Amino acid sequence: MIKLKVNGKNQQFDGDPEMPLLWYLRDEADLKGTKFGCGMGLCGACTIHVNGQPTRACLTPVSAAANKSITTIEGLSPDGTHPVQVAWQELDVPQCGYCQAGQIMSACALLAKTPKPTDAQIDAAMNGNLCRCGTYLRIRAAIHQAAEAKPAKAENGGARTNSSSPNGRKGTK
Ligand code: FES
Ligand code: FES
Repeated sequence: MIKLKVNGKNQQFDGDPEMPLLWYLRDEADLKGTKFGCGMGLCGACTIHVNGQPTRACLTPVSAAANKSITTIEGLSPDGTHPVQVAWQELDVPQCGYCQAGQIMSACALLAKTPKPTDAQIDAAMNGNLCRCGTYLRIRAAIHQAAEAKPAKAENGGARTNSSSPNGRKGTK
């Protein structure tokens, strides 16, 4: 029996402990915002946070996340008002959307560690998140915009309280 905390909720898993965490999240926990891209740790589409660290869910066995806190795109904010999600919407970052949940999770991890990143710091932190639609310049601009937003809550930079924006674009299912 593996105990996990996913988006603040305690969960248990009785299956194969070597199963990729991505399978657990999508197929067992029904959290389909996290995407399968390459399955080899190369594209970043499956990026989640494990104890606040950006992590490739496709390469992480469920057992490695035992007793740890997992955050997926669905858990970033209750209503899509995390400053990064708001900036993503305001700057119309996504094109097809497939990579964007992973991009947002990496961006949030960067801002939690480096609240005012330079272009070079953004490029280095986002280097492992590929976007076949080439939205890189808008991603960089949105990270700068989110860095200027005032966080209202502590986790991952917090959710804005003064925005009426609806739920963020979280990629396709
Ligand atoms: S699906 Fe995990 S890095 Fe590509
Ligand atoms: S928005 Fe299409 S792959 Fe990034």
